[in-house]
Amino acid sequence: MKRAILLAAFGSSAPEARRSLERFGARTAEAFPGLTVRWAFTSGMIRSRLAGEGKKTDSVEKALAKLWFERFTAVAVQSLHVIPGADFDQLTAEVGSLAESGKAFTSLTIGAPLLATRADAEAAAKALLAHLPPERGPGDAVVFMGHGTWHKGDSRYDDLAEILTSLDPLAFLGTLEHSEGVDELLPRLKDAGVSRVFLIPLLAVPGYHVLTDMAGDGPDSWASRIRAAGFVCTPVLTGSAENPGLAAIWLAHLQTALTELSA
Ligand code: CO
Repeated sequence: MKRAILLAAFGSSAPEARRSLERFGARTAEAFPGLTVRWAFTSGMIRSRLAGEGKKTDSVEKALAKLWFERFTAVAVQSLHVIPGADFDQLTAEVGSLAESGKAFTSLTIGAPLLATRADAEAAAKALLAHLPPERGPGDAVVFMGHGTWHKGDSRYDDLAEILTSLDPLAFLGTLEHSEGVDELLPRLKDAGVSRVFLIPLLAVPGYHVLTDMAGDGPDSWASRIRAAGFVCTPVLTGSAENPGLAAIWLAHLQTALTELSA
């Protein structure tokens, strides 16, 4: 059996995000020495934008086809998504369509996204709180910003939000889309009586949503909204893939997918 790992991320054209993915790739190669590690970007929009800049990236289908031509027989595909939402569904569908195309591997498995189970949410909450900026004082709030979705997978954010606040009453989780956003968080920050807020992404890498929607200078960014409400706001520009505790959860899911290959 000739085995490979395929890391599948939404993708980003921001250089900071690309470097962050490279570091996650290096961490993966270190955790699973001797295995070939490849990348695929699941977002067609990001792939075409990068192609426009002359940078070639692979879709999941294309990356798997390449591995098949190189005579790999078993591939563990690891999702770098945060929740099992629409992007993860699409990844599952793409992997399934390859199996039907005749380019069939002996074994092909998919590793779950970050927040697959309640135990993942508990481990993620601990990892997020264990890696806060050292300047955070006891009376300072921490706001984590996730993506959010209308997909039923959005409930994973609710689980995590509840666990975070139970472990640290000044830790909050909001999302850009759906459920609780910055509008709902501002009154909660006021009620908590805090003056300083650390803003941290719950997104794999610091791409557009982090650099613009979370920390950007525009009036609608979360940082600007929080400042306009009278708080001191310090955004952190490191994505979840660089948090060692969160990376360990993704890699544990990859370990499971690799174990399933040999079963
Ligand atoms: Co988005």
